[in-house]
Amino acid sequence: RREHDWLAAMPKCELHLHIDGSLQPARLLELAEKNAVAIPHASVADIERACEFTDLQSFLDLYYLGASVLRTEADFYHLMMDYLRMCRQQNILHAEIMVEPQTYAPFGVTLDVVMRGFVAAIDDARREWGQSVLLILSFLRHLSEDSALDLLREAQPWREHFVAIGLASAERDHPPAQFRRLYSAARELNLRLTAHAGEEGPPTFISDALDVLGVERIDHGVRAVEEASLLERLRQDQVPLTVCPLSNVRLCVVDTLQQHPILDLLEQGLCVTVNSDDPAYFGGYLNENYTALRSALGMRREQALALSRNGFHASFLGPDQRADLL
Ligand code: HPA
Ligand code: ZN
Repeated sequence: RREHDWLAAMPKCELHLHIDGSLQPARLLELAEKNAVAIPHASVADIERACEFTDLQSFLDLYYLGASVLRTEADFYHLMMDYLRMCRQQNILHAEIMVEPQTYAPFGVTLDVVMRGFVAAIDDARREWGQSVLLILSFLRHLSEDSALDLLREAQPWREHFVAIGLASAERDHPPAQFRRLYSAARELNLRLTAHAGEEGPPTFISDALDVLGVERIDHGVRAVEEASLLERLRQDQVPLTVCPLSNVRLCVVDTLQQHPILDLLEQGLCVTVNSDDPAYFGGYLNENYTALRSALGMRREQALALSRNGFHASFLGPDQRADLL
């Protein structure tokens, strides 16, 4: 109990969060009704039952269905504000949040509607309690590179609101090399670079994300444990991995949390961090991820502190912004 309180009070940093993954089931149902979007779930219990995933794709089907109920600027404002209030509650001093505009485009929702809502919520949270937030423009890898390049161009009026680009969605059959032009265009625009790799995809996707896309950090990356030479490279170069323990259990990337490699990787000297990925779907926000590591793996205080410190260190904050926070 005391340990739990101590973890809850520890200053934390979230580097891997899909904003659509913070859409709570009750809010999802409310918005579906308000916006007259037909969905095959009638109750919160229904949605919770649908959260028994067998792999990444089985989750993505529900995740994109959930995101399809968001339509208006106010919907995006409330989605962001609900998550930022959770940051305040959980002592998440800084959050780097993935925004995926390609998800809403099929429903006629424009980038301006999405961004006006998100930016208004972030401005309010910054003003009301000093919340620190950076946004990552995250592309969907099951769509084409041309579609991603179109969005990158369309996002130029919002350039100052994004610190980086990312790459998410179905990893199998969509290797990093398919997005080389996107990453080189983003680099030209002085955007920082990250990508999902090595969640369901093989270790070569991690090395390709580094070598072909030039990313600075890797989202997930846990399948690096299968390749000793890659682990050594990640350790040597201190490439941050944004690891998501509860997500990995729910998507069957690991069988149980007891078998999760995060603390072994930390002890081996890799720059691993703790993150929640899609907290509304995976059973917990950042505090729940940290407390689960304590109960399942016996994470010690100094390990929790090291993980949290890695988070701030691996963030895309500039040195001055970082100093202001800590
Ligand atoms: N992997 C890939 N894409 C995603 C995820 C994830 O864990 N969560 C939301 N989009
Ligand atoms: Zn993710």
